[in-house]
Amino acid sequence: MITMIKPLIVGNWKSNKTIAETEDWFRRFQHPGIELGAEIILCPAFTALERAKICIERRQLPIKLAAQDISPYPSGAYTGEISGELLKGLVSFVLIGHSERRIRFKETDFILKEKVLQAKQVGIEPIYCIPDEHTKIPEQVNIVAFEPISAIGTGQPDTPEHADAIAVEIKKRSPDIRCIYGGSIKPDNVVSFLHKEHIDGVLPGGASLDPLTFYELIKNAAGIPEAKAITSPF
Ligand code: PGA
Repeated sequence: MITMIKPLIVGNWKSNKTIAETEDWFRRFQHPGIELGAEIILCPAFTALERAKICIERRQLPIKLAAQDISPYPSGAYTGEISGELLKGLVSFVLIGHSERRIRFKETDFILKEKVLQAKQVGIEPIYCIPDEHTKIPEQVNIVAFEPISAIGTGQPDTPEHADAIAVEIKKRSPDIRCIYGGSIKPDNVVSFLHKEHIDGVLPGGASLDPLTFYELIKNAAGIPEAKAITSPF
C-alpha cells in the first residue's frame, strides 16, 4: 500500500558545502511541483544554514531546514556548542543521533536524550536516527530515521522489506511515530522504499548533494512530472 500522507524527504549534506556552494545548489535546484507530493527538509552544515534560509525565502521554496546536531546543553559557557536557542528561528527540525555521531563522537543514549530535550524546549522537532531496532528511543520523539550502518554511504541499501519490518517494530512503541529510512537512497530506489506501508519517508545523504539528483529523487518519490515539461524556458 502506498503511504497516504506526503512522504518526508530529508537531505543530509553532512560536513559538505561552503556558503558559496550552498548558494550554487539553490541556483541549480529545480522545483516545479515538489510541494505537491512531498515534504522536503534539507540539513546543511551550521555555517550554511543562514544562507540556505535566505535562498529558500528568496525563491519561495517549499523546503524546511534542519540542523545536523544540537547541543545537549542550553546557551551558556559551552565553547563550540550550538544550543537550541541559537538554532531557534533558523531551523524547524534537527537530526539527533546519526551513526556518524554515535560512532565517531561517542554520543551515548544519555547525551542524545539531553539533545532531544533541548530541541523540544525551543520547539525544534528531532529526527532521531537509530542504527537498529534495539536502540533506545526517547519518548518525546515523533520522527525516527532507521539507518543501518552497513547501508550508509556504501551504495548497498537495506531491502525495502527489511526496512519495513523494522518500521513495524518501531511503530509498536508508538503508532504515531513517523518512520523514515536512510542508507544509500538514490533516485532509482526511493520508490521501492516509499511503497512500503510503514515507511513514511527517506533520508538521502550523498544523493542530496547534487541539486539535480535530489530533484530527480523528489520527483520519483512524489510522482510529479518532469521539470522540463512544466518549466518555462524563459
Ligand atoms: P547516504 O547517507 O545516503 O549517503 O548513504 C545517508 C545518511 O547517512 O544519512
